[in-house]
Amino acid sequence: MNAPVESLLTVRDLTVDAPGPNGARRLLNGVDLAIGAGEAVALVGESGSGKSLTTRAIMRLLPSQFRVGGSIAYDGDEVLEMGRAELRRFRGQDVGMIFQDPRAHINPVHRVDDFLTEALCTTRGVSRAEAEERAVALLADVGVRNAGHRLRQYPHQLSGGLLQRVLIASVLLAEPRLLLADEPTTALDVTAQSDVMAIIEEQRAQRGLALLFITHDLELAAACCERIAVMYAGEIVEQGAEVAVAPKHPYTRELLEARPSIDRRVDRLPVLRYNRTTHDALRATDALETRSIA
Ligand SMILES: Nc1ncnc2c1ncn2[C@@H]1O[C@H](COP(=O)(O)OP(=O)(O)OP(=O)(O)O)[C@@H](O)[C@H]1O
Ligand SMILES: [Mg+2]
Repeated sequence: MNAPVESLLTVRDLTVDAPGPNGARRLLNGVDLAIGAGEAVALVGESGSGKSLTTRAIMRLLPSQFRVGGSIAYDGDEVLEMGRAELRRFRGQDVGMIFQDPRAHINPVHRVDDFLTEALCTTRGVSRAEAEERAVALLADVGVRNAGHRLRQYPHQLSGGLLQRVLIASVLLAEPRLLLADEPTTALDVTAQSDVMAIIEEQRAQRGLALLFITHDLELAAACCERIAVMYAGEIVEQGAEVAVAPKHPYTRELLEARPSIDRRVDRLPVLRYNRTTHDALRATDALETRSIA
């Protein structure tokens, strides 16, 4: 019998090394992350900290010359050891990915209906008529009005917000159990941002989906996720349910202090004092016990 499955996704001691002219460069260093079924976890950190790399490592979408170490278990199965068929199922069915820029992930020469129904028809053997019916229902669920008409349009005829909804609908059509959303609203205008975030939260709740939500915004992370993991220079420096209210790590504290607030007028956002030197010194003393999975 298999050991009991403690969470839907368990990442342990994940390392990623990229080849470079002066030897391998460590991009992810000992990342631990666990997401329970139906749980929402945020991955927060500044640009270049390794958030997207973490999701790409989970999906096994890194360039083949990258070396990946550690373990990524999905529902008890080791992703790093999956064969082609398992991997296809994992990527196409178990996990859904939502990206920052929907336009980069939708073929511009295909109509919306082709984009939405192709996977259902080819991999699930669903008839074209039924696939279209499901697509129309899902588009309505994610707030796309006049869905029948939208199906006949091309991506360039849709706004960014609308296209992101189409992408979310396409992900939901596969009925995944886990969503990986990599800054899904960053490329959208402000009103579309809150609409799309609300749709993700609503669909997640209705379908009991687990979510890994990647963002720069600690406040947004706290508002929509049960736990937050904070990343700096390829490492998770702190994670837990209380990160945004009672941060233990100096980097998280600075992130919280630096955020703009309506009751605190600032002429200029403070520059974070925390840097690579502080980080390395802190790690050397090993004084903090904030990294492990809660
Ligand atoms: N294909 C690659 N080859 C070499 N280095 C890479 C590659 N992809 C990413 N990196 C490096 O890995 C680090 C983490 O990149 P990543 O894209 O994960 O950052 P991020 O946290 O998602 O940042 P952002 O918030 O800007 O999206 C960066 O230093 C980046 O330069
Ligand atoms: Mg990124």
